Amino acid sequence: MVRSHLLAFIITAIFFVPSLAAAAGSCLTGACHAAVISVKVVHDPVKGGECLACHKQDSAQHPTPGRKGFSLLARGEKLCAPCHESPGAGAVAHQPFKAGECISCHQPHGADGEFLLKGNGPVGGLCLGCHDSNAFTRVHIHAPVATGECSSCHDPHRSAEKGLLKGPVNSLCFSCHVDIKGLISSSKIVHPPIKVAGCISCHDPHSSANLNLGVRKMPELCFECHKSIESQIAKVKLLHKPLTQERGCGSCHSPHASNIRKLLSADEKTLCLGCHGDNSLAPLKNIADELKGKTQIHGPIALGRCTGCHDPHGSNNFRLLTGAYPATYYAPYSEGAYGLCLKCHEKNLLHFAETTVYTKFRNGKRNLHYVHVVNNRKGRSCRACHEPHAANGPKLTSSVGSSFGEWKIPFNLVVTETGGSCAAGCHKSLAYDRLNPVEYRSAVKAGSTSPPAASQGAH
Ligand code: HEC
Ligand code: HEC
Ligand code: HEC
Ligand code: HEC
Ligand code: HEC
Ligand code: HEC
Ligand code: HEC
Ligand code: HEC
Ligand code: HEC
Ligand code: HEC
Ligand code: HEC
Ligand code: HEC
Ligand code: HEC
Repeated sequence: MVRSHLLAFIITAIFFVPSLAAAAGSCLTGACHAAVISVKVVHDPVKGGECLACHKQDSAQHPTPGRKGFSLLARGEKLCAPCHESPGAGAVAHQPFKAGECISCHQPHGADGEFLLKGNGPVGGLCLGCHDSNAFTRVHIHAPVATGECSSCHDPHRSAEKGLLKGPVNSLCFSCHVDIKGLISSSKIVHPPIKVAGCISCHDPHSSANLNLGVRKMPELCFECHKSIESQIAKVKLLHKPLTQERGCGSCHSPHASNIRKLLSADEKTLCLGCHGDNSLAPLKNIADELKGKTQIHGPIALGRCTGCHDPHGSNNFRLLTGAYPATYYAPYSEGAYGLCLKCHEKNLLHFAETTVYTKFRNGKRNLHYVHVVNNRKGRSCRACHEPHAANGPKLTSSVGSSFGEWKIPFNLVVTETGGSCAAGCHKSLAYDRLNPVEYRSAVKAGSTSPPAASQGAH
């Protein structure tokens, strides 16, 4: 009966499986070669007792004291070739593979893990048996290297790619870093080195002493190609602090790709306010507070730009400004001292004691900008009246007053069709009128520092 035969077979199978099939039984039983199969995963032919697929008996008597009695049927790859096609494909061959040393990595009988590999645990241990571990054990270790998964990137046998890689570098990285792949494919601007030498022009694929697996530390990583920024920075008196902090250039630029000009990681204003929009950098002002609720936002900022006036990397001027601007409330006037403001505003603003065109801050022809600012001992800087970023008063004047040390000097500018007036803390309320000049009875002292009314020429 078919059924009872089947039953008998199953019983026999259950009974014999632990000691394997009959042929092997003689080698593996007792104290002889049981160790050969004392592993979790036994190689198929060993499991099948086909010892003779690899070994041949040299002497009739086995065991013979002092003699092995068995030798291998073949050496190197030839031993495996009858049953396995040569694994992998591609012109770049791993040296031990090329030399046919399959058993430098594989255990011919069996192993405790997958693929009959030598050593316990992840494949990395096997690889580091031959490769110097220094490159893989620096402070910051790439996750797949830390877990020993060398073969997530390398083919252990051979490959079409340089370095035995399983694919072209970038696509290999993209296979796990799908977010970076997405950023790059959806951005208008891609940083050129990504397309040229690829991810490894900046990252070490194994481990690094630097943050983000950088091949160099910040900012040298970027200076490698951006020499002009390096030389600019080497020269300036005032360096913007984030450049020397750990994230360095990466705190403002996306090193990979961006939709924003100059590879910025956010639009300029958002970017700057990301650090200057709270009180964490006190005593520096909170610029978000300076802008909040203001009726007048200075032109460039209204257009979303901070770099019209500040150099994001470094500068020789006060507050990283892109042109000269005095650091103090009072400043001796000299030609060029207000280069920053006059880069965008009327160049002749401060040139002539009398003018009819270069400013509206005049009493008749008398240039009141000149009166207040142009004093080679103690002129007032623009900040005496104007706010640099935003204000609630007209013409970027503060409605609460400009800062004079800790005190706010009330200012209260009122602008009319032909002139205006201010009730300043500096002097009594005074008006000016371009068409019908106001007569100042008690000589305008504008504090005690008015410049001589000497005209350099009328315009
Ligand atoms: C797939 C080929 C293959 C099969 C099948 C195979 N062996 Fe081996 N065996 C080898 C190789 C290769 C070596 C040499 C290992 C070395 O040099 O590290 C070896 C070595 C040995 C040794 C020497 C000691 C040792 O462990 O290194 C013994 C004993 C041995 N095999 C027994 C067996 C027995 C018993 C079987 C059958 C149950 C068997 N082998 C099946 C390939 C095989
Ligand atoms: C007598 C035939 C035979 C010989 C000789 C032989 N193998 Fe195998 N090997 C097999 C069979 C059958 C399997 C199980 C089926 C498979 O996975 O391909 C296997 C499985 C393997 C596996 C595991 C594959 C996997 O996907 O898990 C490795 C690795 C391996 N052999 C390496 C070797 C090496 C190295 C040699 C030479 C030292 C060798 N084999 C010699 C028949 C053989
Ligand atoms: C440098 C170590 C190393 C050498 C040398 C080596 N292998 Fe492997 N082999 C591996 C590793 C690691 C794996 C596991 C594959 C993976 O993780 O991608 C593997 C997997 C295999 C597999 C199963 C999966 C596959 O790719 O087909 C076979 C079969 C195999 N090797 C046969 C061989 C043969 C035959 C040789 C000699 C010609 C050899 N190996 C030489 C490390 C090696
Ligand atoms: C038996 C020793 C041995 C083992 C084990 C070994 N390698 Fe190698 N490997 C070498 C030798 C020898 C070279 C060639 C000399 C060199 O570049 O250091 C090499 C070269 C390489 C190269 C450079 C190839 C090229 O063309 O640039 C890579 C990548 C590599 N091995 C990865 C691995 C990985 C991954 C493992 C573990 C799966 C591993 N090796 C295990 C001996 C070994
Ligand atoms: C994330 C992918 C990745 C992992 C994981 C990885 N490697 Fe690499 N490996 C690379 C890349 C990329 C190269 C550079 C290839 C080139 O120069 O074009 C490389 C190069 C190598 C080289 C050639 C010598 C060198 O340093 O340039 C060796 C050897 C090597 N790797 C071994 C290993 C070992 C061992 C492991 C596991 C401990 C491992 N790799 C894990 C991606 C990886
Ligand atoms: C097998 C998957 C895998 C591959 C392939 C891979 N990575 Fe990673 N990588 C990871 C994981 C996992 C992390 C850790 C992610 C985390 O912590 O958020 C990581 C982290 C990183 C980091 C951040 C490291 C740090 O210290 O913050 C960088 C940079 C990186 N990978 C670059 C690369 C590059 C370059 C390649 C291609 C050569 C690559 N990765 C390929 C899995 C991978
Ligand atoms: C020009 C140098 C450069 C190149 C090329 C480059 N990176 Fe980066 N990468 C960096 C820097 C710098 C950081 C840190 C950025 C930061 O501080 O926000 C970084 C961060 C990372 C991180 C971790 C932080 C994150 O954004 O997830 C991963 C992952 C990463 N890069 C993967 C890649 C991959 C994949 C490629 C290739 C497609 C690549 N990088 C190419 C410089 C580079
Ligand atoms: C391997 C060379 C290389 C490295 C390293 C490199 N860059 Fe670049 N970068 C370029 C090239 C090439 C361009 C395009 C030409 C140019 O505008 O200078 C570019 C363009 C830029 C631009 C846009 C310039 C513009 O005018 O639009 C910025 C911003 C930038 N890189 C920042 C960085 C930062 C930050 C780093 C460090 C994380 C870095 N780069 C590292 C090669 C490099
Ligand atoms: C605080 C933010 C910030 C940091 C940190 C920063 N940048 Fe910039 N970078 C900018 C802004 C904003 C621009 C655009 C300036 C402009 O349009 O005038 C820029 C422009 C550039 C440009 C284009 C230059 C040009 O002349 O058009 C390059 C290249 C560049 N940065 C590289 C770097 C490098 C390299 C570092 C690190 C040493 C770095 N940046 C650090 C904000 C920053
Ligand atoms: C990653 C954070 C960060 C970003 C983004 C950033 N800054 Fe800064 N900034 C700083 C730090 C830190 C200081 C130094 C504070 C200190 O001296 O304690 C600073 C200082 C300044 C100063 C005063 C410099 C001085 O010493 O007088 C100005 C002005 C300035 N930043 C403007 C900007 C502008 C404009 C942007 C946008 C292009 C910007 N910052 C983006 C962190 C940042
Ligand atoms: C029109 C020119 C101009 C623009 C545009 C501009 N700033 Fe300024 N910023 C200045 C001047 C001038 C000072 C010096 C003010 C003073 O000391 O009276 C200054 C000072 C600063 C300071 C130092 C504040 C302090 O505590 O003294 C920071 C921080 C700053 N700006 C950030 C920004 C940010 C962020 C933006 C963009 C949102 C921006 N600036 C746009 C002209 C400008
Ligand atoms: C990058 C160019 C730029 C710089 C530098 C600049 N401004 Fe302006 N400023 C503008 C723009 C644009 C406007 C708005 C358009 C206009 O009214 O002229 C404006 C408006 C003003 C106004 C209001 C004018 C009005 O009629 O309402 C005053 C006052 C002013 N700026 C003062 C200054 C002072 C003081 C400085 C130097 C600390 C300065 N600006 C630097 C571009 C600049
Ligand atoms: C004593 C106060 C005061 C000082 C100091 C001052 N301004 Fe003014 N500024 C004004 C007043 C008031 C107006 C409005 C004139 C009007 O429209 O009636 C004005 C207007 C302006 C305007 C609009 C165009 C114009 O000239 O009418 C600009 C630009 C300007 N000032 C720039 C500056 C710059 C740059 C400085 C520093 C070099 C400066 N101001 C210093 C009070 C001052």
